[in-house]
Amino acid sequence: MEPRLIATVIALFVFAHGTSGLHFVNVSVPRYAELHATVIMSCHFELGYARLYSVKWYKDDYEFFSYSPVFNCKWFALPGIKLDMSRSDMNQVTLVDLQFSSSGTYRCEVSTEGPNFETTFSNENVTVRALPASEPIINGLQPAYSPEDMIEANCTCPKSKPKATMAWYLNGIKVERYFLVFYATSEDEEGLSESVLGLNRRAEVTLFPGGGPLELRCTATVQERTWAKTATALLARLNNQKLAQDDFTNKSDEVCVSLLLLLSSMLLNFCW
Ligand SMILES: *[C@@H]1O[C@H](CO)[C@@H](O)[C@H](O)[C@H]1NC(C)=O
Ligand SMILES: *[C@@H]1O[C@H](CO)[C@@H](O)[C@H](O)[C@H]1NC(C)=O
Ligand SMILES: *[C@@H]1O[C@H](CO)[C@@H](O)[C@H](O)[C@H]1NC(C)=O
Ligand SMILES: *[C@@H]1O[C@H](CO)[C@@H](O)[C@H](O)[C@H]1NC(C)=O
Repeated sequence: MEPRLIATVIALFVFAHGTSGLHFVNVSVPRYAELHATVIMSCHFELGYARLYSVKWYKDDYEFFSYSPVFNCKWFALPGIKLDMSRSDMNQVTLVDLQFSSSGTYRCEVSTEGPNFETTFSNENVTVRALPASEPIINGLQPAYSPEDMIEANCTCPKSKPKATMAWYLNGIKVERYFLVFYATSEDEEGLSESVLGLNRRAEVTLFPGGGPLELRCTATVQERTWAKTATALLARLNNQKLAQDDFTNKSDEVCVSLLLLLSSMLLNFCW
């Protein structure tokens, strides 16, 4: 072929594709979905000058739904897929009663008729999860502690899948592993499990800023969502006196030592 002809063929090819312009306008598939929920996955496209041949939906490369202007809607049985056909059409599929097995990669694939026979598709990952039914619960906490007491508490997050990641914070500072107690929990028949994280730390005076309350916060995170529970504990009142005394003793000790040092240096100066 002579160069001019090649250029013309390329130009025609580009022109044809440019004007037919099958393209997606909006593909909307949830990244995360709740166990037993109903989700609508939508797939909006523009055909340009072409005519629609088919819209197909796949999960992990297996087709579960197709639409064509000739055959209308069809479905194919797949594990984890329950379709509501009354709410499924060329622009959306409605999945009901999601299972963990519904997690996977969903593909909407649109094809046009001849002469171009274009196909375009979009892959979206869906992860089915079970979120905890409520915020975490704190157990075992006392209303007040003396500095020699141990703070022993548990934070329990209701069942979820995946299991919640837990953390304790004291006055807004994350508690180190050293003061934590990790408990093993078992899965139920659906694969959900509770999460329990224990706190075990001495109630040092420094935890009660200015003698005020200690703020304890427990967080439970499942994927990118976090639930928190906050509680407070006081420095035991009975010990306030002892504390003041300690404070005084420490101060007077310091004063005594300083005086002693001063005196000895004076003596030394005097003697030498
Ligand atoms: C895309 O579709 C979703 C669901 O159908 C809708 O909520 C959203 O507004 C649409 N976005 C655009 C840009 O059209
Ligand atoms: C979807 O999940 C698959 C398999 O886990 C992964 O290879 C792929 O990168 C994911 N795609 C997106 C868009 O996150
Ligand atoms: C924390 O939970 C563990 C395991 O369930 C239990 O043995 C322990 O007594 C609990 N501690 C407190 C302070 O509630
Ligand atoms: C007093 O001093 C001791 C030792 O230096 C220290 O452990 C203690 O926390 C101090 N007490 C107070 C109330 O500051």
